[in-house]
Amino acid sequence: MNNRIQIFDTTLRDGEQVPGCGLSKNEKITIAKALEELGVDVIEAGFPISSPGDFQSVEAVSKEVKDVTVCALSRAVEKDIEVAADAVKHAKRPRIHTGIGTSDQHVFTKIKTTREDILLRAERCVKYAKKFVEDVEFYAEDAGRTDNEFLAKVIQVAVNAGATVVNIPDTTGYCLPEEYGKKIKFLCDNVIGIENVAISTHCHNDLGLATANSIEAIKNGARQVECTINGIGERAGNTSLEEVVMILKKHNWLNYQTGIDSTKIYPMSQLVSSTMNMPVQPNKAIVGSNAFAHSSGIHQDGVIKNRDNYEIIAPEEVGVDESSIILTARSGRAALNFRMGKLGVQLSKDELETVYEKFLEVADRVSVVNDAELKSLVSQYLITNT
Ligand code: KIV
Ligand code: ZN
Repeated sequence: MNNRIQIFDTTLRDGEQVPGCGLSKNEKITIAKALEELGVDVIEAGFPISSPGDFQSVEAVSKEVKDVTVCALSRAVEKDIEVAADAVKHAKRPRIHTGIGTSDQHVFTKIKTTREDILLRAERCVKYAKKFVEDVEFYAEDAGRTDNEFLAKVIQVAVNAGATVVNIPDTTGYCLPEEYGKKIKFLCDNVIGIENVAISTHCHNDLGLATANSIEAIKNGARQVECTINGIGERAGNTSLEEVVMILKKHNWLNYQTGIDSTKIYPMSQLVSSTMNMPVQPNKAIVGSNAFAHSSGIHQDGVIKNRDNYEIIAPEEVGVDESSIILTARSGRAALNFRMGKLGVQLSKDELETVYEKFLEVADRVSVVNDAELKSLVSQYLITNT
């Protein structure tokens, strides 16, 4: 089996569904171009039937990006599919992403129909989308809560109808990694012809398991991961692109590759955060402001001796300039000496003792001690050899 994992970025579609994060056409173009530079394989640019503005954005992205597949979402409705097809018609590599809910919850309570009807609609939507584009991705919404036998029947219908990719969304972020992995394996074992299409994973983070579930899906046969920058998306968000990419890179013994240039991850995260006006939580893996900041004495001492002691990723690998040693009341002498060194201040052992005592008083008061406060400590308590 091919081990190249396709990265399908849905920041501009599922990510943009976050309340207050709507993007203008120009903003979508800017982000799409940056995603192309980052090396994603597919950009889901929007849901064209949802509004004239979104149609125009998807159309504009289709014209602007060249080396990436541009995908448009549609429900299993003819009008949606026609509008999606129209929006991506200028793309060098257009894709329509269409589908329908498959869990009992969705079939009986949301769509209020029968399983037989779902099978029919799944077949029709794929066949209809195939009239416009070769590359058709089918999604089985709420596949995470869909019983595996029925899910296999739906996916079989989609494959027979000509789907090139089948998406198995854990729409509600419900599954456990082992359960989701088994679901993917069940499809691999029970859908005839599945080896000719790509299985896609699309996970939500309601239980904080989106990334773990995506990785488990890959290990069980999925070859496309749907994700967003900074993990933004409906409710608790989607699988985070940076997490999946760095997990695959760091655990290279798993032997999966992506086309992502990891050094562009941090600038990409900043671009999405500022354009969408959505701050990144400080402790967010890979891209949070604390991801490469060390603040306790034991960790700081270890990192100063050798950064591998506490860093499994070199900051420059993801486009962060350098890791930082944050001075707090939990910091030790090694960290203080290190930061003084960065300011060009060389301290003798005795000087360090003197300044350290005073430093702790300041740290208890201000929480994080900055460069100005360090300089003030030096000028107050030392005649230095700077
Ligand atoms: O979460 C989901 O099920 C989706 C589909 C529309 C692909 O976003
Ligand atoms: Zn989703």
